[in-house]
Amino acid sequence: MNILDIDSLTMRFGGLLALADVSFHVARGEILGLIGPNGAGKSTMFNCISGVLRPTEGDMLFEKDGKLMRINGYKPEKMTHFGVARTFQNVRLFSALTVLDNVRIGRHCRTKANFFGAVLRTRSQKEEEQRIVDESMNWLKFVDLEKFVFNTAGSLSYGFQRKLEIARSLATEPRLLLLDEPAAGMNPKETKSLIDLIHKISDLGVTVILIEHDMKLVMSICRRLVVLDHGIKIAEGGPREIRANPKVIEAYLGRGAADA
Ligand SMILES: Nc1ncnc2c1ncn2[C@@H]1O[C@H](COP(=O)(O)OP(=O)(O)OP(=O)(O)O)[C@@H](O)[C@H]1O
Ligand SMILES: [Mg+2]
Repeated sequence: MNILDIDSLTMRFGGLLALADVSFHVARGEILGLIGPNGAGKSTMFNCISGVLRPTEGDMLFEKDGKLMRINGYKPEKMTHFGVARTFQNVRLFSALTVLDNVRIGRHCRTKANFFGAVLRTRSQKEEEQRIVDESMNWLKFVDLEKFVFNTAGSLSYGFQRKLEIARSLATEPRLLLLDEPAAGMNPKETKSLIDLIHKISDLGVTVILIEHDMKLVMSICRRLVVLDHGIKIAEGGPREIRANPKVIEAYLGRGAADA
């Protein structure tokens, strides 16, 4: 069964066609690669799926309780509740808050408690707060950041900030996780540990769409890739097929994309 169907999606910004009649599907449990040159429309696709942008035309269908439902126009908070989480191309964290608090904020969308909390707390509120802290700690362990819980997010290295953002998105308990260039700015060691982390996330049963310019990474993790260029889907298939596709080589791989 598909978790997401993108059906003839078009996104226009004034005269610019950022996405032009793009269709593809994402199967439940897969890790799908979304690649293409700068300005191809990859992040725009994530903005549509996560509810930040309302597409100009076309449909987005998301699986909920075994049925595909149309999600066009749903707000980001609603998409979070439905089980879509994302990270951003440019890390977005509360850099003055602690690592733990950054994850707690993600966790709060699944609970009744308010992060900034009431002054007078009932016992059940306190218990719930403790649960949120425990769960947040578990996600920090999951991404291997537990030693930094009380450091500020801004003091972490870039690679760790990216992992923290992943922990925060996992804390919302997504069924579909959108990763927008998670390896950007990472050194080879960090990239290797990111690959392990993405496999671990997939093992939890979370479906992943991965935007990435590091071809080695994306080709090694994804069994299927969708290639965009100037808003148009130019190819779709397995890594081997994509590497050999003349259109993809012309538009992307032949033009300095990271070693394929
Ligand atoms: N909110 C917006 N308003 C106007 N134009 C936009 C907006 N968002 C994106 N665009 C334009 O849409 C096109 C696609 O941009 P997008 O960010 O989706 O590309 P991308 O594939 O993610 O590229 P990169 O690899 O550089 O991140 C670009 O020409 C961009 O300038
Ligand atoms: Mg982008």
